[in-house]
Amino acid sequence: MHQSVKLRKFYPNDLQTVMQINRICLPENYTDMFFMDLYRRFPETYIVAEEEGKITGYIMCRIEVGLSNFGFSGLIRKGHVVSIAVLPQGRRKGVAKALMEWAMKGMLHYNAKQCYLEVRATNHAGVSLYKKLGFEISRTSHGYYSDGEDAYIMSKKL
Ligand SMILES: CC(C)(COP(=O)(O)OP(=O)(O)OC[C@H]1O[C@@H](n2cnc3c(N)ncnc32)[C@H](O)[C@@H]1OP(=O)(O)O)[C@@H](O)C(=O)NCCC(=O)NCCS
Repeated sequence: MHQSVKLRKFYPNDLQTVMQINRICLPENYTDMFFMDLYRRFPETYIVAEEEGKITGYIMCRIEVGLSNFGFSGLIRKGHVVSIAVLPQGRRKGVAKALMEWAMKGMLHYNAKQCYLEVRATNHAGVSLYKKLGFEISRTSHGYYSDGEDAYIMSKKL
């Protein structure tokens, strides 16, 4: 990651900036209560990137109990990347990769064994990023998004 960028945990004061980055970068937007609920429950996996004192990106996640994405039987704890985005002017500096790496370390704090996420099948930047981090496509969820687009469910063991 570029030296000008620093990562730190999200604080409640960051809420409006993070919600604005979410609206600029993604069609999936959420209420302030949704953002704050994830912060209260999983602060270790809620990270922001700052460049020259301004937030340029964020990641927020949830820890869930569910079936393994790798075919083991039984229930396990999984880290779910709910949302990640970097402002256009902050991209291709390794920020998203670093945010993912921090969040995946944070998932270990909650004893998660795997990490997974949904990504639009046409989101070349996203799919490339996750492949670079060692994620595999577990399956396709047809019509997952509200506009009918398919999602890849991508997973990685922690
Ligand atoms: C996807 C996104 C988060 C990537 O953020 P970023 O900070 O630019 O990503 P990084 O700089 O950490 O990229 C790491 C690697 O991912 C891949 N990658 C990232 N953006 C890419 C692009 N536009 N095209 C191809 N590969 C890309 C590359 O392998 C890159 O490594 P490299 O720059 O050394 O080639 C950003 O483009 C974004 O916010 N997009 C809109 C929101 C979004 O799609 N979020 C993900 C939803 S699942």
